[in-house]
Amino acid sequence: MRENIIFTDLAKELQAKAREIADKHVRPGAKKYDELQEYNWEAARAVAGAGLFRTFIPKEYGGHGAGILALAMVTEELAKADSGFGVAFAVNALGSFPIILGGTEEQKQRWLPHIARGEKLVAFCLSEKFAGSDASGLAVTAEEDGDHYIIRGEKKWTTNGGVADIYSVFCVTDPTSKSRRISAIVVEKGTPGFTVKKVENKMGIRCVPVVETHFDNVRVPKANLIGGKPGMGFKHAMMTLDLARPGVAAQAVGAAQGALDLALVYANRRQQFGAPISSFQMVQKMLADMAMKTEAARWLVYACAGAVDQGAAEKVSKQAAMAKCFASDVAMEVATDAVQIFGGYGFMEDYPIAKFFRDAKILQIYEGTNQVQRMVIARHLIREANELEHLAAYIPNEVQNTYRDGVQITHSRKAEPVQR
Ligand code: CAA
Repeated sequence: MRENIIFTDLAKELQAKAREIADKHVRPGAKKYDELQEYNWEAARAVAGAGLFRTFIPKEYGGHGAGILALAMVTEELAKADSGFGVAFAVNALGSFPIILGGTEEQKQRWLPHIARGEKLVAFCLSEKFAGSDASGLAVTAEEDGDHYIIRGEKKWTTNGGVADIYSVFCVTDPTSKSRRISAIVVEKGTPGFTVKKVENKMGIRCVPVVETHFDNVRVPKANLIGGKPGMGFKHAMMTLDLARPGVAAQAVGAAQGALDLALVYANRRQQFGAPISSFQMVQKMLADMAMKTEAARWLVYACAGAVDQGAAEKVSKQAAMAKCFASDVAMEVATDAVQIFGGYGFMEDYPIAKFFRDAKILQIYEGTNQVQRMVIARHLIREANELEHLAAYIPNEVQNTYRDGVQITHSRKAEPVQR
């Protein structure tokens, strides 16, 4: 049913390569890299060798220009084997999108071909200790100094930190401005004053480093200011997240499918009361629900990613938030049920399912908590309700026009149409 609907030959080819790499290089090392909390370089090299980093880079800069749907399909395959490796891959797209979306031609030529070839890994530095969901409340500053910016402060939860070579860093360049306060600047590994200070000890996705990045008077040329114009950073961050959230959602679909697959294999083998537990209706209900939810999440992700590829990138915020939120909630539910199916064994780290459970939680948190996603969705819905005004005819007048102390209270604030 899934074949030949919206998938290009290139997307299917990349998906097949990703599945092969996942089977050969990701799944076999998943437990080891989780325990050691080490980056899986072998798998990253295989991904580079197969040209998978080219997936999200435009053709003009050495990529396949395969689009967001292909990126989702590749991420899903890798995450099915190891959700941590799924993000280790997808975060390169997250870090590259500010350059792809907002970079100058010179900047794209300078960095994107290296990323496409897998020679340079990328990270995205937005969050700070006191600015997580409130992404505009940043404190890291970049002060002009002739042809340079001097960056000062600390970023928190930089995924790929330490292993990445290119960092898209969001800094305050104009503290007096409300809407043009922030700019994105590329900082390259090895720049004096730029260090990784704390490698976090995480509950899940332990094969990918998440670190604090410190900027101690880091001097970078103005040529690294993404887009060459200050003040565009917050917009670029939001547009980046719109493109990257389908990738987190795809990671979640992969994680859910990976957990379901293991639960199925286990349920067919585990005997209780003289029969495999997959023959019991209560287990069957769990498996069926897990499969339905995973498939529903998958198609929400494909629909959203497909819409971006069809040119709807600027209007995709709501769908991206829906896909990210729904798929990551599904991943958590499915991983929880998979542990339940494994029973006592599921709670033990000797069995692979506990890792799926630990890895799933972060999906509901990073790239915007699911509370933020629901807020984004609701904001869009409320604005779009302007299109539904004709339905007001069916709502009794007493609700719509209320007078209190002689003053008319209108039924709702007329919101501006979405303009992005
Ligand atoms: N596209 C383009 N522009 C957008 C936009 C979008 N999707 N969303 C907002 N904007 C613009 C608005 O138009 C507005 O522009 P003007 O000032 O010119 O009018 C401006 O941005 C401010 O918009 P809001 O008033 O909506 O902003 P807000 O302060 O209310 O915040 C928010 C909105 C949705 C909560 C946002 O802060 C957000 O997404 N927070 C979550 C941050 C996040 O996802 N962090 C994840 C870090 S990355 C990570 O986790 C990676 C990892 O480790 C793997």
